[in-house]
Amino acid sequence: MIGPRWAQTPLAARLGLRWPIIQAPMAGGTSTPEMAIACCEAGALGSIGGAYLAPEALRAQLRAVREKTSRPFAVNLFAPEPVGAPGSASAPDPAQLARAQDALRPFREELGLAEPQLPERFGNNFEALLAVVLEERPAVFSWTFGLLSEGALSALRDAGCYLIGTATTVAEGVALARAGADAVCAQGSEAGGHRGSFLPLDNFPPLVGTLALVPQLVDALAPLPVIAAGGIMDGRGIAAALALGAQAAQLGTAFMRTAEAATPELHRAALAALRDDGTIITHHFTGRYARGVANRFALEQARRGAAVAPFPAQQALYKDVRAAALAQRRPDLLQHWAGQGAPLGRELGCAELIEALARETEEALARLR
Ligand SMILES: Cc1cc2nc3c(=O)[nH]c(=O)nc-3n(C[C@H](O)[C@H](O)[C@H](O)COP(=O)(O)O)c2cc1C
Repeated sequence: MIGPRWAQTPLAARLGLRWPIIQAPMAGGTSTPEMAIACCEAGALGSIGGAYLAPEALRAQLRAVREKTSRPFAVNLFAPEPVGAPGSASAPDPAQLARAQDALRPFREELGLAEPQLPERFGNNFEALLAVVLEERPAVFSWTFGLLSEGALSALRDAGCYLIGTATTVAEGVALARAGADAVCAQGSEAGGHRGSFLPLDNFPPLVGTLALVPQLVDALAPLPVIAAGGIMDGRGIAAALALGAQAAQLGTAFMRTAEAATPELHRAALAALRDDGTIITHHFTGRYARGVANRFALEQARRGAAVAPFPAQQALYKDVRAAALAQRRPDLLQHWAGQGAPLGRELGCAELIEALARETEEALARLR
């Protein structure tokens, strides 16, 4: 599946892609196996966002993709947060949890919700999900939120996976490269969804934009391939990413309104109505900074400086509010991830979108010649 010369970056050639385009993994039910299949068949790299799936559901998604395409695809997980230690993200300080619960009380009252019983631990499923990946051996494994253990990386490598870590700064990219990543996804601050930042963990996250981050990472990591992510919505953005030295572009928000996305109707409507200044970086939904629609919940919690539990505990605290807000059709209280490029989003099928992206990239490059 060979594309034109501009499209045959070393990374695209290594992964057998016609286009240097990666459909971003979007865990939590936005990306779907149908999306990954359509993107792979159209010559891009499709991805499965597995982080929130149960292990057997992840296996089923992987097999569903493999059944419909022989093209390479990626599976993505979140690097595990430290689990279990007192005061860690998985076992937060009870006083902090109580303050975070207090901060949600006005919204629970508004939605008619009683305060839920909370689990004592807030772990994630990384080990069980990794075991599935190692058995199913996808061509590409990508991850975000940090470094993986040496053991996990060498097992993934033994399973034949090409390894892509996520960085939001040069220091994070260098740490990933030292740890053995084959390529680094440079996530600029325009990006929708969670920030992949992991150095430092607790401060306000670094917000380096894609245009500044990509060439700095390219210079720091050469010859390791860098993938540009954040704010790329059309072929102009892909041409710009290639000009910065990226070997592929990873697009998330651009796929959120496609036919194959499982984006709920309220979320689609919020994206369709969004302006360039309509997003905010907030940790009030999950405890990890993420870019989403600047709705009432995000703005009020920011203004109040509301208490937040660490990820993933805050996500567990917000869960009942989210479910009730969805049931009561309250977009003002919903976690609606979106990147700054959302107004450029299109309602197309994934194959048509990839075709348009490739054509537009070609046109943008031709204009520059
Ligand atoms: C709804 C949504 C969910 C996301 N989930 C994941 C994920 O599970 N894993 C991951 O590595 N990145 C995830 N991301 C981030 C993307 O990989 C990528 O960095 C981002 O979408 C690029 O910016 P853009 O949205 O402007 O295209 C998500 C992004 C969005 C919008």
